[in-house]
Amino acid sequence: LPGAEVLVVSNREPYIHNRDGDGIVLQRPASGLVTALEPVMRACGGTWIAHGSGSADPDTVDRDDHVAVPPDAPCYTLRRVWLSEEEQNGYYYGFANEGMWPLCHIVFVRPVFRAEDWDQYVAVNRKFADAVIAEARTPDPVVLVQDYHFALLPRMVRDRLPEATIITFWHIPWPNPEVFGICPWRKQILDGLLGSSILGFHTQFHCLNFLDSADRFLESRIDREHSAVRSGGHTTLVRPYPISIEWPPAALAGVAAVEECRAQTFARHGLAPSVRLAVGVERFDYTKGIADRFRAVETLLDSHPDWIGRLTLLQVAAPTRGRLAAYRDTQAEAEAAAERVNARFGTAEWQPILLVARHHEPEEVLALFRAADLCLVSSLHDGMNLVAKEFVAARDDGDGVLILSTFAGASRELREALIVNPYDVVAMAEAIHRGLSMPVEQRRDRMRLMREMVAENTIYFWAARMLLDAARLRKRRAIER
Ligand code: G6P
Repeated sequence: LPGAEVLVVSNREPYIHNRDGDGIVLQRPASGLVTALEPVMRACGGTWIAHGSGSADPDTVDRDDHVAVPPDAPCYTLRRVWLSEEEQNGYYYGFANEGMWPLCHIVFVRPVFRAEDWDQYVAVNRKFADAVIAEARTPDPVVLVQDYHFALLPRMVRDRLPEATIITFWHIPWPNPEVFGICPWRKQILDGLLGSSILGFHTQFHCLNFLDSADRFLESRIDREHSAVRSGGHTTLVRPYPISIEWPPAALAGVAAVEECRAQTFARHGLAPSVRLAVGVERFDYTKGIADRFRAVETLLDSHPDWIGRLTLLQVAAPTRGRLAAYRDTQAEAEAAAERVNARFGTAEWQPILLVARHHEPEEVLALFRAADLCLVSSLHDGMNLVAKEFVAARDDGDGVLILSTFAGASRELREALIVNPYDVVAMAEAIHRGLSMPVEQRRDRMRLMREMVAENTIYFWAARMLLDAARLRKRRAIER
């Protein structure tokens, strides 16, 4: 897209400035969306519009609410949008995270739909659409809209910038029409998204669910041959673009080699050299199946007692969306499960589960991946899951076992992982046993194939495929004019 102006819209910002005593600390958030998109912005430049969520964010912007990032080597602009307490409660905690998030993930947490939250969701979508219009310098920018926080924004921007190329990417699953249909504002959500030129999901399965939803609830024409929806004279292409990471991840440059990471991690947690280490890394989210994973460790120690004293699961979980009861309950349930398993099996020298509930910066996470024998990704449902891909990227020694949920989009690509159903605790326990008992040549063969897969399908491919599709649309429009 030579010469095109690029604007990204997401809720979460890539760099958060927080006040810490007298100083300011920079935080990079735990967000798959940010992990994926940030390298693309570093490569392309442009403007990223996001919620300014840090306590020191207002002190680090200029008069236009702009800050050049990354702070140490600026190459694109972050435009911060400020949200009031009321807006955050209704739009972010309320409609986005108590409504859309459980609705789309289908993990038996009942979605909550309140009219007040919806009003804030509409208002905040309008506020970000205003920011897009304010930032745009050309009549036909490329606007990259990210995720379930902004289902209405594509239509709002389309109405005001009819020539814009709007690419919307939905980072979470899209449910079937029966589930989606319980949302009281299903028509508005679908119509808002259909303001996009291209609507992307991680998998073909989610594209089909979206087409079925539009078919069921709107007066639209579904073109299954071209995977497109025609509605109100406008066509939206609906395509799968499996998201990925950069290769190698930039943060890996600051991480020690495998042996050193292992020695440091074992020393920090007082692990005996004979212990095998499994790791889990996520936000403390009920979609991630953290307590189920602890129950799987318990089942393993019951069914294969030879692992008692010889396996530790180090689970890192970043507290998240803590204002919501469902999140506090998830954390409490996981903590109770860990305590129970440790009380049953632990000794003065050894604990089967170490739970560290704090945010980790990317370098720390990659170091943990390098230290581990095995990585456990047992999400109950996940659009893609980039932790799985980051684990593979961290293992440039070619070793390590990945256990991966069949309900994470990543399981469609990382076929050499040990694929499990996270609801089946016995099968998960067996997979851990199998992973830890696997001959080294087999571990290496599997890891090599997975590394090839991610190295050949990086985040730049994800972006390039969408932008190439967009470029084709723009050329066709130019011809038709
Ligand atoms: C998921 C969502 C992202 C979000 C991330 C972290 O990956 O798809 O949009 O940024 O979770 O959640 P948070 O609410 O902290 O941004």
